[in-house]
Amino acid sequence: MSVALAIVGVSILGTWGIATISLIVGGIILLVAPADIETTSSGLAVGIFLLISGLISGGLMQVVAMPLMGLDPPLPTKAKNNIPHDRMKGWANAGPLRGFPDGIATEVRLHSFRVAIVRQGEEAYAMAALCPHAQLPLGSFPGAPIRPEPVRDGCVMCPFHGARFDVSNGNAVRQPFASEFNANHPFLGAFQSKLFFWNKGAEDIQTYPVRIENDEVIVGLPR
Ligand code: FES
Repeated sequence: MSVALAIVGVSILGTWGIATISLIVGGIILLVAPADIETTSSGLAVGIFLLISGLISGGLMQVVAMPLMGLDPPLPTKAKNNIPHDRMKGWANAGPLRGFPDGIATEVRLHSFRVAIVRQGEEAYAMAALCPHAQLPLGSFPGAPIRPEPVRDGCVMCPFHGARFDVSNGNAVRQPFASEFNANHPFLGAFQSKLFFWNKGAEDIQTYPVRIENDEVIVGLPR
């Protein structure tokens, strides 16, 4: 990632973000009290216009600014593009099994692939490191305050918006912004669900075949 581009991206995100929040807040205020402005006949319409503009601005902001910071644009990926295991003919060593924390998605780079290894005791599973909802890492960012969630009931949870995936087959068993997640995460859940009004779904995640050989995790990759 280019530091210069990252600085530009953060600057754009900051100013654009403030403008977006202003639009949304202004819209909400006018929707709640449309008679508080002189043009009372159009107060409601202006509020709706500001709110919609703010939401669209928020979506555009993420698509434009995130690539500048070295992140993938938050666009969903389709399960129909997932590659079947029988086409994974190239094998790569991800490292010693016990080098991976139990029950926590840990990202490794294997050739050009970003893969999340999830160890469950003496077994390991491999899946795409980026969530199919908005391309954010299942294992979070290094040093970020958002921590990866431990695997529960055989499913890994994306820490950003709460989508859950079965580690054995990649099935999306819970969608982003589920009410349970939103209730416990006011910013990542309830608030961001408004910004992501255009993208609320997660399809099944890409998985990779895994072999354990001499206590090493060997992952099958497309060739
Ligand atoms: S990025 Fe994973 S649920 Fe949104």
